[in-house]
Amino acid sequence: MYAVVCREYGPPNVLEYIEWPEPEPQPGEILIRTEAVGLNFVDTMRRSGRHPSPPPLPFIPGIELCGQVVAVGDGVDRFSPGQRVIGRCVTHGACAELVCVEARFAVPCPEELNSVEAASVFVTGQTAFHALHTAGHLQSGQTVLVTAAGGGVGLWAVQLARAAGATVIAAAGSDGKLAEAATFGAQITVNYRQPGWSEQVNEATDGKGVSLIVESVGGEVFQQSLNCWAAGGRMVIYGEASGTPGVLTGDQLLFGNRSVQGLAVGTVIENEPLMRSTMEALLELIRSGTVRVPTGTVLPLREAAQAHSLLESRQVKGKVVLLP
Ligand SMILES: NC(=O)c1ccc[n+]([C@@H]2O[C@H](COP(=O)([O-])OP(=O)(O)OC[C@H]3O[C@@H](n4cnc5c(N)ncnc54)[C@H](OP(=O)(O)O)[C@@H]3O)[C@@H](O)[C@H]2O)c1
Repeated sequence: MYAVVCREYGPPNVLEYIEWPEPEPQPGEILIRTEAVGLNFVDTMRRSGRHPSPPPLPFIPGIELCGQVVAVGDGVDRFSPGQRVIGRCVTHGACAELVCVEARFAVPCPEELNSVEAASVFVTGQTAFHALHTAGHLQSGQTVLVTAAGGGVGLWAVQLARAAGATVIAAAGSDGKLAEAATFGAQITVNYRQPGWSEQVNEATDGKGVSLIVESVGGEVFQQSLNCWAAGGRMVIYGEASGTPGVLTGDQLLFGNRSVQGLAVGTVIENEPLMRSTMEALLELIRSGTVRVPTGTVLPLREAAQAHSLLESRQVKGKVVLLP
């Protein structure tokens, strides 16, 4: 089979598309013939070595995919060959023609979902869902600020927050991404590369600020967002794309009864019943037309290096999907 392989940490061009031994399903695993792979920002962090625990070299990057079951390992009775599934590799392994996935991290793929859409739900959709609901306790009528709102998780978050009855303020680093967020339902948009964006948020909320911030950028964006955070508000930190951590003092929480919650979705979806009910809810939202899967860029798997480069350099709107 062919696979994308990372033999050294570094820039996107360390990725090679080469022949690689086929994997065999171990007990509890299913072997999938890949139809589409969803690229995630964390894949770029693991490739570059910037992730706190990058996989040992060499490794095949990629964590979410859609495809057809080819074989099942011992002890798997939930899936059978021929079935289309959506799956998640724990830290790496998806960018290949054949991929082994633990059956507990796979769900049947609805017939009406094409492969490109299906490869953008498991990690991307669930991250947005758990940021807003499991960690963020979002209530109808609240105002939510979504940072990196034009990205894969961001466009999911915009739509899920709207579906929950919230007012959504999308914040992003380009007017193109903001226009995209608006087409996905954001009512207010602010460009955080422009000075004074947090004052714009305060003006748009009659001086109150936002009740929930779902934050994945860190650095200056994180710091500025504190200026438009309502009393009693909550912030969910689930990423740090800028590479710079946000800094918060006890006073900023204490005066105003604010709270902060971190989210590592990989830990949340270890809870299999919660993962399955969340996936059912997300797939139903797609089926009913409430949510559009935000697939923005589709490239051949052999162009994984180019895909990493586009995502890392902030050039893409929505999700990047790779096709073998
Ligand atoms: N905690 C978890 O379990 C979990 C799971 C999945 C994803 N995540 C995190 O969620 C975030 C979104 O993931 P995604 O895959 O959907 O990626 P994405 O949002 O499509 O891409 C990352 C976005 O971050 C913004 N960004 C700001 N500063 C940046 C910088 N210096 N370099 C690169 N990007 C920068 C860019 O948007 P602008 O140009 O608009 O600023 C870029 O489009 C990432 O931070 C990711 O690590 C966390």
